[in-house]
Amino acid sequence: MPLKLNVVVLAAGKGTRMASSLPKVLHRLAGKPMLSHVLNTAHSLSCANLQVVTGFGSELVEQMLGGQASRFVLQKEQLGTAHAVAQTLPYLDDDALVLILYGDVPLIRKSTLEALLGKVDENSMGVLTCNVSDPKGLGRIIRNQEGQITSIVEEKDATAEQKAISEINTGFMAIPVKRLKAWLPKVEANNAQKEYYLTDLVEIALADGCHVVTSNCDNQQEITGINNRVQLAQLERTYQQNMHTELMNNGVSLADPARFDIRGNATIAADVEIDINVILEGEVNIAGHVKIGAGCILKNCSIGEGTQLHPYTVIEDAVIGKNCQLGPFARVRPGTELKDSAKLGNFVEIKKSIVGEGSKINHLSYVGDAELGNNVNVGAGTITCNYDGVNKFKTIIGNEVFVGSNAVLVAPLEIKDGGFIAAGSTITKTVAKGQLAFGRSRQSNIDGWKRPEAKKK
Ligand code: UD1
Ligand code: MG
Repeated sequence: MPLKLNVVVLAAGKGTRMASSLPKVLHRLAGKPMLSHVLNTAHSLSCANLQVVTGFGSELVEQMLGGQASRFVLQKEQLGTAHAVAQTLPYLDDDALVLILYGDVPLIRKSTLEALLGKVDENSMGVLTCNVSDPKGLGRIIRNQEGQITSIVEEKDATAEQKAISEINTGFMAIPVKRLKAWLPKVEANNAQKEYYLTDLVEIALADGCHVVTSNCDNQQEITGINNRVQLAQLERTYQQNMHTELMNNGVSLADPARFDIRGNATIAADVEIDINVILEGEVNIAGHVKIGAGCILKNCSIGEGTQLHPYTVIEDAVIGKNCQLGPFARVRPGTELKDSAKLGNFVEIKKSIVGEGSKINHLSYVGDAELGNNVNVGAGTITCNYDGVNKFKTIIGNEVFVGSNAVLVAPLEIKDGGFIAAGSTITKTVAKGQLAFGRSRQSNIDGWKRPEAKKK
């Protein structure tokens, strides 16, 4: 029977070079803490048991990512990678293979890890290696004349000859738990850094008569760790580029991939066109043939087939139907739903409201806590007064209602089907079906009136 999978993620390091009060692994990559990317990858491998070793800022790490692991194990002092793994030993399953991942190496791919896991059995351990152009600072893979790995030597312990080796230890390893339990107590800290090195397991495994196998990763980005904000920004670009390439291959047009960022999980259908400086955050779902203009920011929303978002439209926590038109400069706030073919024009702010099919709010309006039926026309400058300073009230507008420009709709208020509101009205009472409502003073025109004149000196 193949061994089941346990995963240990090392995330105890302080990340001094981030120069931050936030633990390194909580810094965000594509909108999610970098550790969260690693945990997602672990889950995608269907691991039965996921242990995260924390140190600096452990409470905060656990608070933010609590639900995503089996356990967070505190490593009080960072005495080295072997010491970190040792903290999890009581919680690992004896009949499992443990895969070691790193909270600060977020781009590692499932397929790369599967290739490593596929090579390991109960009498062996596996090491993921990579050939890099600049191996400085990394552990070097030492091989014998037959090409078998014999040890890993850290930069600080390496001879000049060893430093010239370009094949490095990525840190990713797979080890049967039973063996790990036997081998870890043998690791000593007699090296330049006085640390317990996980890399010593190679020699310990060989001395125990086991095999050490290697799997080579040919994509350096996957195994790149983040130590400072410059590297974080570089990996962010890599991550974005990878997503862009996949999207474009699936039929999405990007005016300039360098000026489009996804911070979360976006599902984008074919034939969507995205102009420059667009940001998608959280869970965003975009149906086919949607056009997104320059500078749009969309967070936790879904956009129906054929809808056009004109430049600088900002949408959050909303559902937009098919063939709608929004913007330029429309702001859609949480709890809003636009039914099919609705229109929101420039400088319209809408919050927690439903806009019926074919209804239009074309210019300079605030609509909050409202329900609009179908084919409603809301004139320029209309405001729903939904708030009396203490409570919020609703405005209910039926089908085919016409609201003239610059109307003030004081909630709670109902305007029934076919109601017509005269421009400039302040409306405070229910408007029945088909009624015309005026709520403004009449105009008076004065004949023979004289304009004031400046006094003569
Ligand atoms: C380690 C490897 C090195 C490899 C490199 C790849 C060892 C001894 N060396 O070196 O061969 O080339 O990674 O990046 O394993 N950590 C803890 N607790 C500790 C120490 C480390 O959780 O006590 C975590 C760190 O947060 C980090 C990871 O383990 O995520 C690696 O630790 P780090 O000190 O950066 O190892 P390197 O010296 O880079
Ligand atoms: Mg170190």
